[in-house]
Amino acid sequence: MGMTDTDSALVTDITDLILHEHEDFRRRFVELWDLRHSGEPAALAAAWQPLADLLEVHASAEEEIFYPVLLTKGSDAATEETDDAVGDHNEIRDAIRAASGLETGSDPWWQAVLECRKANDEHLAEEEREGIPDFREHSDDALRSSLGARWVAFHVEHRAARGISGQDIDPEEYVAENS
Ligand SMILES: [Fe+2]
Ligand SMILES: [Fe+2]
Repeated sequence: MGMTDTDSALVTDITDLILHEHEDFRRRFVELWDLRHSGEPAALAAAWQPLADLLEVHASAEEEIFYPVLLTKGSDAATEETDDAVGDHNEIRDAIRAASGLETGSDPWWQAVLECRKANDEHLAEEEREGIPDFREHSDDALRSSLGARWVAFHVEHRAARGISGQDIDPEEYVAENS
């Protein structure tokens, strides 16, 4: 079946773009794990660094573009969903920061990367169960498409995590500032 106009419009739906990137994370972690026995540090770094960068850009893009809209348009649960998500993003960022201070391919490095993977797996599942369906229920196609365009522009601007601080964000302050 070919793409219809409706299908191509949905490609820029921010929630589809987010879900797409979640799949990308899962695939990239599997590919990184393929290297765990044979991986040269250079090959590991080549697999890990773009993944770490994308995790940072993804979390920041959600905090910039997705969660502020969820907070104002979502259900009563949006506050808690957002608080949880920012806390999870911090755990992912902490693990990335821990890995970056360790020798690539060493046991402590793998431990940090495993922590990152676990925190991320847990977070993706929760976001897909809670924030994303809440957002979809309380937004229309036009809004999701315009936010999708911002999502794409954010990724272009911050390619390879350029201009992303990687610093933790206080979840309570974030919710208060964006509600
Ligand atoms: Fe996400
Ligand atoms: Fe997230």
